[in-house]
Amino acid sequence: MLLQVRQLTKSFDDKTILRGVDLDLAEGQLKVIMGPSGCGKSTLLRCLNRLIEPSSGQVIFRGKDVLQPGTDVRALRQQIGFVFQQFALYRHLSALHNVTLALRKLRGMSVREAHAKAMHELGRMNMAEHADQYPAQLSGGQKQRVAIARALAMDPAVLFFDEPTSALDPLMSREVVSVIKQLQLDNVTMLCVTHDPFLAKSIADRVMFLDEGVVRAEGTVAEIFGAHADPRIRDFFAHEHSAA
Ligand SMILES: Nc1ncnc2c1ncn2[C@@H]1O[C@H](COP(=O)(O)OP(=O)(O)OP(=O)(O)O)[C@@H](O)[C@H]1O
Ligand SMILES: [Mg+2]
Repeated sequence: MLLQVRQLTKSFDDKTILRGVDLDLAEGQLKVIMGPSGCGKSTLLRCLNRLIEPSSGQVIFRGKDVLQPGTDVRALRQQIGFVFQQFALYRHLSALHNVTLALRKLRGMSVREAHAKAMHELGRMNMAEHADQYPAQLSGGQKQRVAIARALAMDPAVLFFDEPTSALDPLMSREVVSVIKQLQLDNVTMLCVTHDPFLAKSIADRVMFLDEGVVRAEGTVAEIFGAHADPRIRDFFAHEHSAA
């Protein structure tokens, strides 16, 4: 198992957000996390790479509890690629340069090496022909694909996505869904938070439903999206579909 989360809790001051989350992610697996707004999905992802310090529990990544003192947090974060809703590209840098930057700075690659690696990853995202364009010249879907190429370029053990399609119109989100599907075929391990039923249905092996800081259900897409026995889960999907 690549990642095992055990009884993870997080409180901000006196407000408890995560109340004992368990999660397993195997190599090559893609798991989707869904749940109502404010239930703690982003907090959970950020706890796993310690952008937020959890209050208690275990996060066992490649066999080691990374919440233990002495953990190299920088090294941990390099192994976890993170793709956000807002693409967070540098506006003054071309697509190519956005991808090479971390390779040069964090991995100490030469210009030539970083260029070759970046072009490879942009190619995987069908973005090679746009390598010299600046973010302002790219569509939202193209920007998101550059952000994914940038994350992949670091050769992470796992990719986290936090609502990768929610800033995109349906057509652009389809482009992003299709590249995520491609990564799935390439056996990239992924954990994806989303509200987007199309994304979840297109990609997920397993869906975890988080509610009020606990895992309320976990199952296949059909099990979670179907007529679920839990009324809160049924309500969530009824509402999501009517809002879409
Ligand atoms: N740094 C913080 N300090 C205090 N409270 C926080 C902090 N970060 C998040 N919270 C609270 O934690 C709760 C969960 O937030 P989180 O962003 O994890 O939810 P979410 O499930 O990702 O929601 P959404 O679907 O809207 O993105 C919210 O009530 C939020 O206000
Ligand atoms: Mg969130």
